[in-house]
Amino acid sequence: MLGTVEYYDKTAAQWAERGYAPEAELECLREFLDMLPSGARVLDLCCGAGYETGRIAGLGYEAVGIDFSEESLKIAREKNPAIPFYREDMLRDYSYIGAVDAIAVIAGLVHVETAQLPLAFEQMGRVLRRGGRLLVSVREGTGKLAERSRFEIEGVAYDRNFIAHTLEELETAAEGLFSYQCELPSDMRVWKNYVFSRI
Ligand SMILES: C[S@@+](CC[C@H](N)C(=O)[O-])C[C@H]1O[C@@H](n2cnc3c(N)ncnc32)[C@H](O)[C@@H]1O
Repeated sequence: MLGTVEYYDKTAAQWAERGYAPEAELECLREFLDMLPSGARVLDLCCGAGYETGRIAGLGYEAVGIDFSEESLKIAREKNPAIPFYREDMLRDYSYIGAVDAIAVIAGLVHVETAQLPLAFEQMGRVLRRGGRLLVSVREGTGKLAERSRFEIEGVAYDRNFIAHTLEELETAAEGLFSYQCELPSDMRVWKNYVFSRI
């Protein structure tokens, strides 16, 4: 059984086709960006093929993207040659990218085990400036969603490990580093968009 990175490498082109469509623009991302000073440096963590990263830059922010799928990053770089993209695991130290004023992690923490959420917040805390904002878009619920995890593509089985997280789980994992601020209206009912602030 192949895992998350192999799944996104295999499906990068499909996600890109969907994500670059104008109607895929997320209301919550715009609302989040409106909270930031103009020109703020924004990390799109788990950026996939870079469609939101491109939109962030297009709205006048300094965008930077991180993902661990090389195939997704190939598309991201082709479509957004002026934006720096890094291939990295969000559970490892990526502070070499420098400090940022905000982080958007849209549908990224869904691939992090609940027990590893503190590590994900710790790594985000290394790069986000004090007072900086964090947008996390998570799937409502708790625990692994088998039907959203397992796929068979061209006869090959993948498990992308898709995990729902409650606000309480996120707040517990972020304790001491981030404080919860507010929820932004969801673009899709099953997704929850939470804003945190770096303490
Ligand atoms: C559901 S896609 C979301 C992509 C994009 N942010 C969006 O809103 O459509 C999840 C992305 O997270 C990336 N990802 C998952 N786990 C990761 C990890 N540990 N480190 C870095 N990227 C990861 C995947 O490669 C994939 O591009």
